[in-house]
Amino acid sequence: MNTCVSLRLAKKQSIAEGIVLLELTAPDGRELPPFTAGAHLLLNLPGGLSRAYSLCNDPAERHRYQLAINLDPRSRGGSRVVHEQLAVGDLVSAQGPNNLFPLDSEAPHALLFAGGIGITPVLSMARYLQAQGRSWSLHYATRSHDRCAFHETLTSSSLASSSHLYFDDGAANRRLDLAQTIASAPAGAHLYVCGPTGFIDAALDAARAQGWAESRLHSERFGATAPVAVAERRFTLKLERSGLTLEVPPDQTAMAVMLAAGVDLPFSCEQGICGTCITDVLEGRPDHRDQCLDDETRAMSFTPCCSRSLDDCLRIDL
Ligand code: FES
Repeated sequence: MNTCVSLRLAKKQSIAEGIVLLELTAPDGRELPPFTAGAHLLLNLPGGLSRAYSLCNDPAERHRYQLAINLDPRSRGGSRVVHEQLAVGDLVSAQGPNNLFPLDSEAPHALLFAGGIGITPVLSMARYLQAQGRSWSLHYATRSHDRCAFHETLTSSSLASSSHLYFDDGAANRRLDLAQTIASAPAGAHLYVCGPTGFIDAALDAARAQGWAESRLHSERFGATAPVAVAERRFTLKLERSGLTLEVPPDQTAMAVMLAAGVDLPFSCEQGICGTCITDVLEGRPDHRDQCLDDETRAMSFTPCCSRSLDDCLRIDL
């Protein structure tokens, strides 16, 4: 599904507390493969890991890809490598761009919500919609002014009149009121939300409570960085070739359990995107959370980095 593209890091700058903006160009100066608003790139990073990051620039631009990357304090190699090791001039390979969070071309209005670094795909959407003369509004919440990426762009450019910024440490009466904002959206609007899991769920729940159809709701989560919900069920993983039987508790991934048990399991993105960890299923029904398996392979395959089990026991070919 992915096109491999070679890129050079042309610029790297800090744009907010803990956030760097990368500008990637083709080493030979050619045009880059096109992308649509909401798309991501899978960066292949030093150390053999790959990580998906949303493109935040205007899709009309063909000379560069821009990614804004937040330093995750729990990072074991993704954002930490980007922040601490990648330097201007470095060559980086990537797969994509691919879009799992596209805009609906028929929607009369796009109601965009971003929490924290969730601004990245949403900013690309705002830029595209503005350039197309379409109706949109953006509501962007961050912990503080210092952690607000693209503040100047959103307050001093053509995007400013449709952009609304909120800070958790600001005045209580100026915080984002999801229910009220959704209630005042134009009829037929589509909602797009990206950010931490709690923020996404709150926006979707508020829209559903007001009768919005699922077809008008669109979200993108941060993959592996999203905390595992405590409501997840425990299941047993039987490894056929290794002869191991492992219990996967609600707060751990199957991959984490297998690695802790010493199983030699290839992996890369840990986000259900790259397909490196795909394993054959011998018995049981996987609860798929990935974005890399197609309809044909779903029943027989399992991505232990993010997927779980619908049955009490899942037997896999490892
Ligand atoms: S490690 Fe990439 S899909 Fe599992």
